[in-house]
Amino acid sequence: MFKVPPISAQRLPDLLRAMPKAELHIHIEGSLEPELIFALGQRNNLKLPYATVQELRSAYAFSNLQSFLDIYYAGASVLLHEQDFYDMARAYLGRAALDNVLHTEIFFDPQTHTARGVAMETVINGLHRACEDARQELGISATLILCFLRHLSEESAFETLEQALPLIDKVVGVGLDSSEVGHPPEKFARVFARCKELGLHLVAHAGEEGPPAYIWSALDVLKVERIDHGVQAVHDAALMRRLAQDRIALTVCPLSNQKLRVFPDLADHNLGKLLDAGLAATVNSDDPAYFGGYINENFTQVFAATGMSVRQAYQLAFNSFEASFASHPEKRVWEHKLKETFERFFEQD
Ligand code: ADE
Ligand code: ZN
Repeated sequence: MFKVPPISAQRLPDLLRAMPKAELHIHIEGSLEPELIFALGQRNNLKLPYATVQELRSAYAFSNLQSFLDIYYAGASVLLHEQDFYDMARAYLGRAALDNVLHTEIFFDPQTHTARGVAMETVINGLHRACEDARQELGISATLILCFLRHLSEESAFETLEQALPLIDKVVGVGLDSSEVGHPPEKFARVFARCKELGLHLVAHAGEEGPPAYIWSALDVLKVERIDHGVQAVHDAALMRRLAQDRIALTVCPLSNQKLRVFPDLADHNLGKLLDAGLAATVNSDDPAYFGGYINENFTQVFAATGMSVRQAYQLAFNSFEASFASHPEKRVWEHKLKETFERFFEQD
């Protein structure tokens, strides 16, 4: 393991911004900024229930996950054409590259769109073309993860998978998101088993608001490779040991947890505890347009609030590459760039 050099604490925010990183938990519909919602609404001749961008932004005050999801699904209703999906994803990728994201695995919620009559190919082709262009223009690596909405039925998830099959080469894996409590992972056991047979990678949101039991069933029933959020794992010592032993990564989203009142005070966030227990935690933005910041803002704010260390910064960025679904050679290149950044900061100290 790389011996992380001592770097002065006052340079930590700059280091957090400059260090190469991967983002593994970003809902592309959650990157739709109010300005883009208005621009797309106008382009598609849609009437929005808000008069101005400011009025829309001022509605972003959430009391829990469901209060956010209601506004998030309404915002996504401006997406109709392939170019809309392209513009949304290309804007996110440009923003992520500024935060020194070298690789990102992007969630999308097709059922939000197909339920409104938008074709699956419109969604996937628009997002995929943005990923290809961003790779050419920015050098950023980006792949797509199709998420099933857990408040909908197993039947709807199977129908969604069926619709995506002709385009499945453009998708690296599947996930599970939306309203957690009352919708345990096992509801989707059969559809995840089918996805595994198809050779897709598997992830699921679990232990965001829901109990540790949902993390256990995501692991043992769905057979996921990563847990999205997972912060409720600290309430179950046996689960913590399992996650550490099996190096199951948690894609933690500090500002999301603050805004949805999982940890109303960021100073109480358990990210440091998860790392101290040997878990492969990572930092991510979840829905950056709604929660007040992209990935670097998540890093700088949670470090400022909790007093985490330079060594923990390195560990989080390293974990993000290691936990990604990229190839081993790609991971080695990114991890080498990460080391170089820490050495450069040390030499300049
Ligand atoms: N969809 C978008 N953001 C989400 C979150 N934080 N939890 C569950 N589903 C989501
Ligand atoms: Zn999420």
